[in-house]
Amino acid sequence: MKRTAQIAPSLLAADFGNLDKDVKMVDESQAFWHHIDVMDGVFVPNISYGMPVIKAIRKVAQKPLDVHLMIVQPDRYIETFADLGVDNLTVHYEACTHLHRTLQAIRNSGMKAGIALNPHTPVSLLEHSLEGADLICVMSVNPGFGGQSFIENTYEKIRELRSMIDSKGVKTLIEIDGGVTPDNTAKLVEAGADVLVAGSSVFRSQDPRATIARMAATEVY
Ligand code: DX5
Ligand code: ZN
Repeated sequence: MKRTAQIAPSLLAADFGNLDKDVKMVDESQAFWHHIDVMDGVFVPNISYGMPVIKAIRKVAQKPLDVHLMIVQPDRYIETFADLGVDNLTVHYEACTHLHRTLQAIRNSGMKAGIALNPHTPVSLLEHSLEGADLICVMSVNPGFGGQSFIENTYEKIRELRSMIDSKGVKTLIEIDGGVTPDNTAKLVEAGADVLVAGSSVFRSQDPRATIARMAATEVY
């Protein structure tokens, strides 16, 4: 069967001085979602942007907002993100003591719920959480920064997660985040990825819209 992946450009690599221009470019491209990285300087050693910027993006963006929270105690802000018009809210497995409750709260507030896994966290820990999640974000770099190199053992994690999802018959999407480029797209789709987040490989390319199109058109049989 022919398979492709959906592309979610990461606005972390966009031009913050002309954010509306880059948001429009993504809207006019073949991208699926806008990926938005929120970092608190505690869960990860970097601070990105927060609510006022998401509010500004929401005003312009046509496509769904896929928000990746790299923050401690994400429960504090679930309602705030829902009110901002966020579509998918992803929390880190490593940041949630009561993950089941957090996922329920996200769904109850009308958003899709995602779980992100750091590179060292095994996918087997999600065995009893897949039904409660709409997407699993497998980090293929250590979270906190754009432009890092892809960690190769991610393929094995994707294959394992794909078979867990398929054998349970759930619809949970597999999203890969970090170091994704047109060069590893086919291999990621082949391993079982559904959504590919791409920051620098899109925004640092000569023609970002064409790069998104090229990745979205990568077919695997
Ligand atoms: C990293 C972020 C990523 C980042 C990806 O912590 O979660 O979404 O923007 O950037 P690239 O594609 O440049 O690795
Ligand atoms: Zn991300």
